[in-house]
Amino acid sequence: MATWDLSKSKNHVLICNGSSCSRVGAEELTQAIRKEISDRNADEAIHTTRTRCNGRCQDKCVVISYPNGTWYKDLKPEDASIFIDSLLAGKDYKEKISHLFNGEGFERVNGVVTGIQKDKEKVSKVSKIL
Ligand code: FES
Repeated sequence: MATWDLSKSKNHVLICNGSSCSRVGAEELTQAIRKEISDRNADEAIHTTRTRCNGRCQDKCVVISYPNGTWYKDLKPEDASIFIDSLLAGKDYKEKISHLFNGEGFERVNGVVTGIQKDKEKVSKVSKIL
């Protein structure tokens, strides 16, 4: 348990640890990202959080970085070094972006799976709304 002081954090990285992402190495990716942050003494600058499913399972492993609101796909442990270097340089890791926030919504990058439309019935079922 921890209650971190986030006042010096410049990035918040959400690392999906849902079941689909976990099947392709989310734990190893999480450890690799946290090691790269630690190796650069960047723990205050980059805060990480493991999440459950982020609803983009075909993009596994999914990582999301704020404040830019950039979504990444297909991240692997070997991407961790360049990913963290990019964040510390104030840039996105362009090679693995799936969605960019354009001020009004998340814009899908070419070649990324569209996904299914959200309708009330599907949302209730997938989100397990009682
Ligand atoms: S399990 Fe990672 S997006 Fe669904």
